[in-house]
Order: sequence, then structure tokens, then C-alpha cells
Amino acid sequence: MLSGKRILLIVTGGIAAFKCHDLIRRLRERGAEVRCVMTEAATRFVTPLSLQTLSEDKVYADMFSLTDESEMGHIELSREADLLVVAPATADILAKMAAGLADDLASTVLLATDKAVLVAPAMNVRMWAHPATQANVMTLGGRGVLFVGPNEGPMACNEYGPGRMSEPLEIVAAVEGYFTGKLAPPDPRQALPQPPEAISLPHRPLLGRRALVTSGPTREAIDPVRYISNHSSGRQGHAIAAALAALGADVTLVSGPVTQPDPAGVRLVKVESADQMLGACKAALPVDVAVCAAAVADWKVAKTVNAKLKKTPGAPPPAISLVANPDILATLAAGGADRPALVVGFAAETEDVIANAVAKRQRKGCDWIVANDVSPGTGTFGGERNTVHLVTADGVDSWPTQTKDAVAARLAARIAQHLVAG
Ligand code: CTP
Repeated sequence: MLSGKRILLIVTGGIAAFKCHDLIRRLRERGAEVRCVMTEAATRFVTPLSLQTLSEDKVYADMFSLTDESEMGHIELSREADLLVVAPATADILAKMAAGLADDLASTVLLATDKAVLVAPAMNVRMWAHPATQANVMTLGGRGVLFVGPNEGPMACNEYGPGRMSEPLEIVAAVEGYFTGKLAPPDPRQALPQPPEAISLPHRPLLGRRALVTSGPTREAIDPVRYISNHSSGRQGHAIAAALAALGADVTLVSGPVTQPDPAGVRLVKVESADQMLGACKAALPVDVAVCAAAVADWKVAKTVNAKLKKTPGAPPPAISLVANPDILATLAAGGADRPALVVGFAAETEDVIANAVAKRQRKGCDWIVANDVSPGTGTFGGERNTVHLVTADGVDSWPTQTKDAVAARLAARIAQHLVAG
């Protein structure tokens, strides 16, 4: 996709600079050539040597290096690139770009270039929301500068909101979008933060709260070697467990068989069947919030056998009769004294996503439903990204397509807001 494309990656000084390592790898594995420019501040977060090793090219940081200027002047650096990517882009570099300042190599290259520029902002939520930054974003958008992100999520400074740098794969998708003509300059108004989403939460707001998350598929045995299951990867459920733990919750994650790494700081209970999942969930009660993200098999085999089913020559294949599995979400939502204060289900739908989710919320008796489209082609099952709609008693909130980690972070923040702020 990016074969032979030359990317000049300008790394500025923010905590997200560590993600550049992965970004360089991902760009290069798609065939792009990556050359790096770093600001002085960026060298405090990542070393020039690490970027040089990964890019297999010289890293440029000093505008007054005689050798660099004779080998490859700052004008040449931008001329030789097909696209300039600024990642992470701090509030400072956005301000310099907007004002046309050129007081170091990175800002000089950006002022001297006639190539397209894609920026991936990364900064504290308040710095992003500040009218000065937003004015700079609008100015730059108006000049055709392309933006990817920032995402919402918990930040290194213990706040939540927009300001996290997009994930490397999101930046790669934006780069590919530029070369395929799908990425257009932003509508500057969209760059403005949406006030209700700029949630500012206290440090670890879910400390002292208990959460239960189900994740992954279940396996329903046919015989000792065969089973019925589905394609769920557990990625979204595991990410939610991690996001709730990151906000301080005491999390029990009940998971069917998955290959996801065990999330840190979470109590993991591994199960196979829906019956086992229900048992483990009941054992985890009482909790303040339950999030059922597992793709529970709807049916189990009516009679499992203890010996492997054998083929009998000439005989018809065995008929497998199925019976319904317990509905874990509906059971938790029906609750009684132990009912969690907030019960959240998922709706995996292939058509009429929102209408089906609204009906499912009623039918299951849960408080919220996170509806997602799992039709073939969306890549939701097992994929990196998810497009979801949060269905509550108050209505439907459609979120932009984002990584499953970003969906998890946003959901965890909404849960914290609901439980803590009421
Ligand atoms: N769920 C559950 N136990 C089941 C089936 C589903 O806890 N036996 C939960 C899922 O974890 C999810 C929600 O119910 O949170 C909806 O799952 P989904 O597969 O979308 O719905 P189904 O109940 O299977 O309904 P249908 O297949 O008719 O869409």
C-alpha cells in the first residue's frame, strides 16, 4: 500500500513519543521509507538512536549541524518526502505551525515544506480544549493540514478526555487515506471538543468499586474433542476490563477461551461453557457494575457424550439436538438484592443495529446496551476497531469508529461518571 512512499516523521516532545517506535515499524512493514526529525524535547522521551535503528536512516535534530546542512539541508529534507507526519504533535508545535515560527529544525522544515502535512495531536485535555489550541487547529485545517485524532481516553496526567495521540495503526490508516485520496482536510468545526465528552474525572474514580466483565466466546462441548463456538476474540471485553481497572475498579474478568494476553491488575476466571460462565459470574457478585461483552453461545448440546462420536460406515451423520443456554446478561439484570447498580450488555447485530439494540435492552432488562455491527466486512469480530452506539434509557449516542481500546476507555469513563457523579 505504501510501497516506495517517503514519509518524513517529525517527532515532538510528548509522552506519546514512545508510540513512534511502533509507528515507524508499521509504516515500514507496508513498504514506506521513513526518515525522522526530532525536536530537542522529543529526545527527552525517545532516543535518536532508537529512531535511527528502526528507520534505518539518519535522524535529524540539529538545525545548525554543518554536516547535516551540507548533506541534506532543511529544505531538502521536506522536498525529498511525499508526506510529512507530525506525531506526536504537541500544542507547542501546532502553535508554531499556525504562527509560522521557525526556531528549530522541526518547525523550520514545516515552514519550508510544500508537501502535505498530517498531524497527530497529543496533549493534555485542557491544552487541547484551550481556545488558543483550537484556534490554531482551525487555522491549520483551513490551510489544508490534515489531522488524525486526538482520541479520547485516560491520560498520563490522570484526566480523561480528548488529547491522546491516535494509535499507530490509526495514523497508518490516515497516511494510507492521504495517498488514496480518501483523507480530506478536516471541517475545522469538528476539531472543537464536544463538551459532554471532555469528561474530567478525579484520579482513579472507581477505587473501591467492584466490576464484573464477561469476555470471549463460550465453547459448548459436543463430545470430548468437538465443540460449538464462535469467532469472538475477547479483544473488546478484555479491553473493557483493563480500562475499568485503570480507573481503579476491582475487576473480575470471566472469560471464555481466547488468545488475548491476560489484562494486568484484573482477577481472571477462565471458563469454557455458558453454564460455567454463569456460575463464575454469580460467584463474583455483588458488584457495582457488570459488563457482558462475551459472545455466549445461544445453545448447548442437549446430551453431551463422554466418548468421541465415531463414524459408522453407511450410517447417517449423528443428529445433534440443542437446548438454550442460560442468558447471563438477563440473569444478572433480573438480579434481586444482588443486582449490580449498572448492568451493561452488548448487542452483536448484522442488520437494523440500533432498532435491534433498543429492543434488546428492553428484553434483557439491562440498563445500557453497546450496539455494534458485526456483519462480515466490518471486521469487528477479531478486528482492531469498532463502531458502536450506546443505547440508554435517555436515547442513543453514536460514537465515531475507533480502536477497541478507545471504545473501552470511553465506556469505562461513562461508567465512572454514572457511578460516581450519579
Ligand atoms: N448474552 C448473555 N448470555 C447469553 C446470550 C447473550 O449474557 N446466553 C449477552 C451478551 O454477552 C451480550 C448480550 O447478551 O451482552 C446480547 O448478545 P447477542 O448475541 O447480541 O444477543 P442474543 O441474546 O444472542 O440475541 P440474538 O441472537 O437474538 O440477537
